[in-house]
Amino acid sequence: MEYTYDYFRLSADYVRRRIGFDPEIGLILGSGCGPLAKQIENSVEIPYAEIPNFLRSTVPTHAGKLICGTVAGKKVVCMSGRFHSYEGYDFEQLTAPVRLFKCLGCRAVILTNAAGGVNESYKPGDIMIISDQIKLMGASPLRGKNVEEFGPRFFDVQKMYTPELRELAKQCAADSGLTVHEGVYFFMPGPQFETPAEIRAIRALGGDAVGMSTVTEALTAAHCGLPCLGFSVIANLAAGMSDRPLTDEEVNEVGVMVADQFSTYLKKVLEAME
Ligand code: HPA
Repeated sequence: MEYTYDYFRLSADYVRRRIGFDPEIGLILGSGCGPLAKQIENSVEIPYAEIPNFLRSTVPTHAGKLICGTVAGKKVVCMSGRFHSYEGYDFEQLTAPVRLFKCLGCRAVILTNAAGGVNESYKPGDIMIISDQIKLMGASPLRGKNVEEFGPRFFDVQKMYTPELRELAKQCAADSGLTVHEGVYFFMPGPQFETPAEIRAIRALGGDAVGMSTVTEALTAAHCGLPCLGFSVIANLAAGMSDRPLTDEEVNEVGVMVADQFSTYLKKVLEAME
């Protein structure tokens, strides 16, 4: 399959016709981040299955629709439910969501996820602003024939998580008396959770949180020059750090527990964005 600019533009043209406005910010919300999606006003919801050339989601806890509308005074397009490589998609296919945002004219993306805490000072329920990422496994989503309309073949990822947006996010946290961490997100392809030995290796390599999403989206944003802000909600202590077995129920429970606080914070950040 060769992905061309027109391939992605077809999805965007369809969405733009359905929603009738130009979104400013693209959101991809991970496990337990649903409540923000519920607060989008005047929303138009489009199931992924109705969008031409788009992907279908397979995870039951991920809703699988685009929610477009207004929140915190910003026009947003929000993916409620995201795509992961463990579902069987090729890494190249995982460019679709952020390329849709780009074609719709968004000027920034916000990515959220639930992650395991690797840094020993992190607790379940904590929020981490992603400062950088490590992805040593799996192909780049930008491999294959380069789509020049989006960006150059070789591209810089030193500021993939936009420093100005991170500063803004820190300021918003300080203003609301919220303690947030800033740290490195380490990608593991899953779907199995990690082994304790893998977590020790990840810590030694500089990872603060570990998860199975987000990195392809951030890389796609960097390629097409979209400013990007990422957050991890620490859902659990990573493997080997507690006696509890790791389950997706636990991950979702913590997500639900902190969802309201996190949504309030995200709205503040959205409001503060230019
Ligand atoms: N590992 C990988 N992905 C995750 C975890 C974890 O411990 N928690 C939530 N997503």
